[in-house]
Amino acid sequence: MSPSTGRFDFVVVSNRLPVDRVIDPDGSARWQRSPGGLVTALEPVMRAADGAWVGWPGKADVEVEPFEADDMHLVPVALSAGEVERYYEGFSNDTLWPLYHDVISPPAYHREWWESYRAVNERFARASAEAAAPNATVWVQDYQLQLVPSMLRALRPDLTIGFFNHIPFPPYGIFSQLPWRRAIVEGLLGADVIGFQRASDAANFFSAVRRLFGYGMRSPEVRVPDGQGGHRTVIAKAFPISIDVESFEEIARRPEVIARAAQIRHDLGDPGTIMLGVDRLDYTKGIGHRLKAFGELLRDGSARTGEVALVQVASPSRERVEAYMQLRDEIELTVGRLNGDYSTISHPAISYLHHGYPREEMVALYLAADVMLVTALRDGMNLVAKEYVACRHDEDGVLILSEFAGAADELKNALLVNPHDIEGLKEAMLRAIAMPKRERSTRMRALRRRVRENDVARWSQSFLDTLRHVGSR
Ligand code: G6P
Repeated sequence: MSPSTGRFDFVVVSNRLPVDRVIDPDGSARWQRSPGGLVTALEPVMRAADGAWVGWPGKADVEVEPFEADDMHLVPVALSAGEVERYYEGFSNDTLWPLYHDVISPPAYHREWWESYRAVNERFARASAEAAAPNATVWVQDYQLQLVPSMLRALRPDLTIGFFNHIPFPPYGIFSQLPWRRAIVEGLLGADVIGFQRASDAANFFSAVRRLFGYGMRSPEVRVPDGQGGHRTVIAKAFPISIDVESFEEIARRPEVIARAAQIRHDLGDPGTIMLGVDRLDYTKGIGHRLKAFGELLRDGSARTGEVALVQVASPSRERVEAYMQLRDEIELTVGRLNGDYSTISHPAISYLHHGYPREEMVALYLAADVMLVTALRDGMNLVAKEYVACRHDEDGVLILSEFAGAADELKNALLVNPHDIEGLKEAMLRAIAMPKRERSTRMRALRRRVRENDVARWSQSFLDTLRHVGSR
């Protein structure tokens, strides 16, 4: 049974809809756009092309009809509580997430989770097929929906289909653990264009295709047999994602945000150096490694409370997944110990904040921070690194950046570190603290040029241009 066609020429599909349910003071509920860069980038494209967004409203058992919010057509896909457990918390975030991030935490393989992942991907594919007009373009986002491209192609061969993987794609030696590795690669190959963050992710994907299927390929093209003696060409290559640079810079220039940054410095006791970490509380982010390095600097006296302050924002994430609960316990134990050992009555060694904050407050923190710590053990891109750079119109501040974050391919003027090398991390922190103003400015200027050249609008344009090109073949 093939679904009926819809009316939208451009359809974006992602696990979460780009809106949050907010309750106003008078008790009434409404949907508000969530602040992600993807929405900002795609909004003009959606407007121009009569677009729709297909996704989960973020809570179990919310069955709502398609609706409009902030000028966007939203098509909700409902998930039951069991599906949230098996498809979202289970297969997406306790199988694929750790597997794709170098097995930092051991992935769990459960056949019921896989079944649920398949069933939910099928639902997303149907909802997208029903929304898309004849010959429309559909752009599927991220690892939660890797089967959607081929399911959608089977339902609607007329569509042009793109897929973008926001997280890393692992080397074959790791990927091959997955019992359903062939089905995943087959699912992705249903797309016309498959985008990755780094060239190395695309190379890993090519080797998975070669090892599992032996299809003919010459980067960036894979020749996929069409079952009728011919083949389809699929393009797989890197399109490094970015942020809405201008909007961050605009916020960072507001007088009240600059004043807030000064207030933050003051509230922290005007230390010589503020170091900042901003992450979802996730084991991929290397928060423990950075705390260990900072703790050793405090212990050996090369950093002193009152002179150097560390602010760590760790926003709550996936709190019902066991590995995240464990991580939270570990991090909070470490922070508690370090503060117990090194804080004074007037100065905490570490200000640890387990909250999310509005964008304005984040920007003020970026402006207040002399040193930004991005020490991920593995990260698709890491947009925090780019946000920090975009905000520093004063051409000051030092970015310490893990070479295992996708951003390291572009941000070569950061202090690049291997976060597993605690001595190296300590040296980078000390170097950042002592770095002369001239060197800070030279580096920051180069970083800013790079971030400005490739903002999120440019990213979506270049992906969609490639997609249009293959679609018109
Ligand atoms: C990463 C993923 C996104 C995901 C986000 C937040 O950035 O690439 O797909 O939406 O984390 O995680 P959550 O599980 O809360 O959606």
